[in-house]
Amino acid sequence: MTRKITTLGGYFHEYEKSISNPSMFWNDNAESFYWRKKWKQTLDWDIEQARIKWFVDGKLNITENIFERQLFTRKDQPAIIWESNNPEEPNKSFTYKKLYKETCKFANILRQMGIRKGDRVAIYLPMIPELVISMLACARIGAIHSVIFAGFSSRSISDRIQDAEAKLVITADGGYRGTKTIPLKEYVDNALETCPSVEKLILIERTGEKVNLKKGRDYLYSNLRQNIPGENHAEEMDSEDPLFILYTSGSTGKPKGILHTCGGYMVYTAYTFSNVFQYSEGDTFFCTADIGWITGHSYIVYGPLLNGATVLMYEGIPTYPTPSRFWEIIEKHKVNQFYTAPTAIRALMSLGLKHLDGKDISTLKVLGTVGEPINESAWHWYHTNVGKNKCPIVDTWWQTETGGVSISPLASITPTKPSYATLPIPGIQPTLIDSDGKEIVGKSKKGLLCIKYPWPGIARTIWKDHERYKETYFKFKNLYFTGDGAKRDEEGYYRIIGRIDDVINVSGHRLGTAEIENAINENHIISESAVIGYPHEIKGEGICAFVVVQQGYNINKDDLIQNIIVSVSNIIGPIAKPDKVYVVNELPKTRSGKIVRRILKLIVKGEKENFGDISTLVNPKIITELLNIIE
Ligand code: WT7
Repeated sequence: MTRKITTLGGYFHEYEKSISNPSMFWNDNAESFYWRKKWKQTLDWDIEQARIKWFVDGKLNITENIFERQLFTRKDQPAIIWESNNPEEPNKSFTYKKLYKETCKFANILRQMGIRKGDRVAIYLPMIPELVISMLACARIGAIHSVIFAGFSSRSISDRIQDAEAKLVITADGGYRGTKTIPLKEYVDNALETCPSVEKLILIERTGEKVNLKKGRDYLYSNLRQNIPGENHAEEMDSEDPLFILYTSGSTGKPKGILHTCGGYMVYTAYTFSNVFQYSEGDTFFCTADIGWITGHSYIVYGPLLNGATVLMYEGIPTYPTPSRFWEIIEKHKVNQFYTAPTAIRALMSLGLKHLDGKDISTLKVLGTVGEPINESAWHWYHTNVGKNKCPIVDTWWQTETGGVSISPLASITPTKPSYATLPIPGIQPTLIDSDGKEIVGKSKKGLLCIKYPWPGIARTIWKDHERYKETYFKFKNLYFTGDGAKRDEEGYYRIIGRIDDVINVSGHRLGTAEIENAINENHIISESAVIGYPHEIKGEGICAFVVVQQGYNINKDDLIQNIIVSVSNIIGPIAKPDKVYVVNELPKTRSGKIVRRILKLIVKGEKENFGDISTLVNPKIITELLNIIE
């Protein structure tokens, strides 16, 4: 496997090697994988064009590294243990051998349905084992999976399918979330009305509800599986062939199809999983993320399985049937590493300690968080009550674009500090810059977080839009720009402050304010809107919308607000629902017509007087008007 760091001295030593000779460092870490053909050059890049290639001309299949490479030793070891939303339903266990067979079957079905290397397959599934199996099946035959989070609505599904020009969709009749059943197939049916590229659909039965099957397009997985062999010859992939696309929000209205490739992503997720969580043989690792986000891709599916780990996958939500559910799962399956989001911790914290009473969670060794900054009180609650003051917390900073954890403590190795992501993973060279792109040197500094040199897990492009990739991530000379602000303290530890672009982070979900504004503006009586994030006790950030109504409309404000909330939920998905909507006469603008969101943010935060420089506003009186409305 990749080299495992076991001491702080070891970390500094490896880090030093990774900086002084990155190619040699990653060359060594890549060697333990199974390559059909070895690479000719470890790294080839051209920063001007933002072209990055790792393990050039190497040939491999990532699923061969999960299965064939490990089957000999692990065939009867559980790879995935799946826990249902419903605590009464028995859990399912997939050994490496069984997961291999299921993957091969699914891969054979995909091939039979005409899917070939390079084709895009959209996957819109709840957290059921078939989600993992279908991703691996795509990887097996070289199809590019594009997983769409099952909380997105028809419009978001359609946008993503159209952008990727997916040929086939894999979905389910429905999904369970706590007491709710989500009609996934219905959403997909609506979406597919505007997706001409889709030829076929595979339907997995989960809830058993009645769904429409379109003749010649839709096929039941349970039928397709009949008489399909459980073996499949893996497609030979180039290191730089695409592995998957995952859409994420940016500062414009259009989501970005982040593209990851086979070789580098494999090496990086495997390396970070093993080192950050200090997973040891026989441990059970539980990541609560949905696979619809990068966390699930990298730390439920690829990272752990490449390490031969046993992963716990949970279908439901933290509070169903009670807020003890996570702790019950940990007790039942003797979980050793637990990886979740600050928002979940804050929600459970607000419900009180009684839900932990009598739950034996003493098997826990490592706790992790991801997705947003963790505030100190949540950190301490987690450390004391879940970790019983003995488990290190790894506050892992990374992004869809970085592929894997990039700044984080290594569990039990790096001394932690509440709310600090601490030190970079070997291979990651963080730096802070000012708004002119000038590097800020020295300790105790704040700035925009950038990364200096490529690492194997970096996204290679935005699907069909390399220009946007270049402009977004490489706008500062020779640096990858993260979009986050950060602080570096006296010890060189990094603390992430949050996004500095028009992206908000709601419960660890990334949403572009422009996307939400576009959805609001679809209502023809709205002339314009401005969406901002504001501090929210549980969600981290809440969504606040200011809307201006077209002249000449006489509206009932409460109805309008309700309408806006429902339509955003229908257009994007329930995660994007505004928490607050204010109907205003006017938005604060500069003479050139740019909305001054800074003012709106201050007002929503409760600021009454100090608005800084307001000389750029066309109509400074607007502040008083806005303050009155918010009262
Ligand atoms: C953004 C990336 C990486 C998987 C989940 C989110 C924020 C992520 C942390 C952390 C503070 C964090 C950043 C980043 N973020 N982890 N430990 N501390 N902020 O992936 O949807 O691509 O979002 O999430 O703002 O840029 P994503």
